[in-house]
Amino acid sequence: MAVLAGGRSSEHEISLASARSVLAALDPSRYEVIEIAIAREGRWELGQRESRELVSGSEPQSSIESLPVVAEAASPAQALGSVDVVLPILHGPFGEDGTVQGLLELAGVPYVGAGVAASALCMDKDLFKAVLRDRGIPVARNATLRLGDEISNPFGYPVFVKPARLGSSVGISKAHDEAELEAAVALARRHDEKVLVEEFVAGTEVECGVLGNVRPAPIASVVGEIVPHAEWYDYEAKYAEGGSDIIVPARIPVATAARVQELAVDAFVATECEGMARVDFFVREDGEVVVNELNTIPGFTATSVYARLFEASGIPYASLLDRLIELALERHERRSGLEY
Ligand SMILES: Nc1ncnc2c1ncn2[C@@H]1O[C@H](COP(=O)(O)OP(=O)(O)O)[C@@H](O)[C@H]1O
Ligand SMILES: [Mg+2]
Repeated sequence: MAVLAGGRSSEHEISLASARSVLAALDPSRYEVIEIAIAREGRWELGQRESRELVSGSEPQSSIESLPVVAEAASPAQALGSVDVVLPILHGPFGEDGTVQGLLELAGVPYVGAGVAASALCMDKDLFKAVLRDRGIPVARNATLRLGDEISNPFGYPVFVKPARLGSSVGISKAHDEAELEAAVALARRHDEKVLVEEFVAGTEVECGVLGNVRPAPIASVVGEIVPHAEWYDYEAKYAEGGSDIIVPARIPVATAARVQELAVDAFVATECEGMARVDFFVREDGEVVVNELNTIPGFTATSVYARLFEASGIPYASLLDRLIELALERHERRSGLEY
């Protein structure tokens, strides 16, 4: 199998940390693993010594200049074509957004996680909410600013301003007045042509893991609560030592937790996700549950929220990886019977 890590997005480092954790947990007697690291500028590199067997005659650190769409000799594309399953541990654009998934579809190799359409849909906070609204799943209200649109805010203050397709809170601001709104939109527009202005939702942030395909049916994990030691869950709060606490299970009523789990699976099914997802929510002060976003490749270290939630649900990290690999193989096998 191959673990794909790094990538071109600002979440490069987080992806590498997740991949290190995955590599350490995969049972060496069960899996022969090659690591493919994608550099920040897009260069693909084979990392492990086993790669020498796959790309005979090449240096172990063989690399190419661009995406390996053309099956060059001695390129990672050959390595991709000769593995049983790929585990893309990539966050954000060019990894979690359907692009790499498309490449893996073209290569005809089984891979872990959401397919092309679900990945692209869930990466785009605007399209994602549109689909959820259509299915009657509650989400926060938003206005969408497209290229060339004037800045407008129908919600009053504060509001959240976000690039449509990014993650890790990069490019997101909480704007408290008109001047801050202008700066917030300018910042978000550095990261994406499409920007969301979103009503502020006061309440508790909770997260729920989902695991499964259509069959076996997706299951929801125990619900966890995020307590950022900041005004909101920004980049620092997410990744700095002591920036936030994760409380498992969340300190919410049992019925509310059940509602979160139900909506997590509903969102997973509505967006046609497969394999895994972490669905993030707000619980309003009156108890109403609102979906914030769905991550198709959540942070994946052994201490990341997704792994902790399943650990608390009786599925330890190494078993979680085994199950995800089985789900990838199940999908590939099932779909191999389709006629095109
Ligand atoms: N509408 C909102 N109301 C209140 N807080 C929000 C809202 N949107 C985002 N936030 C805060 O910003 C954080 C990051 O926003 P999110 O949409 O999850 O983007 P990312 O994909 O970068 O994680 C959330 O975890 C939350 O703390
Ligand atoms: Mg988030």
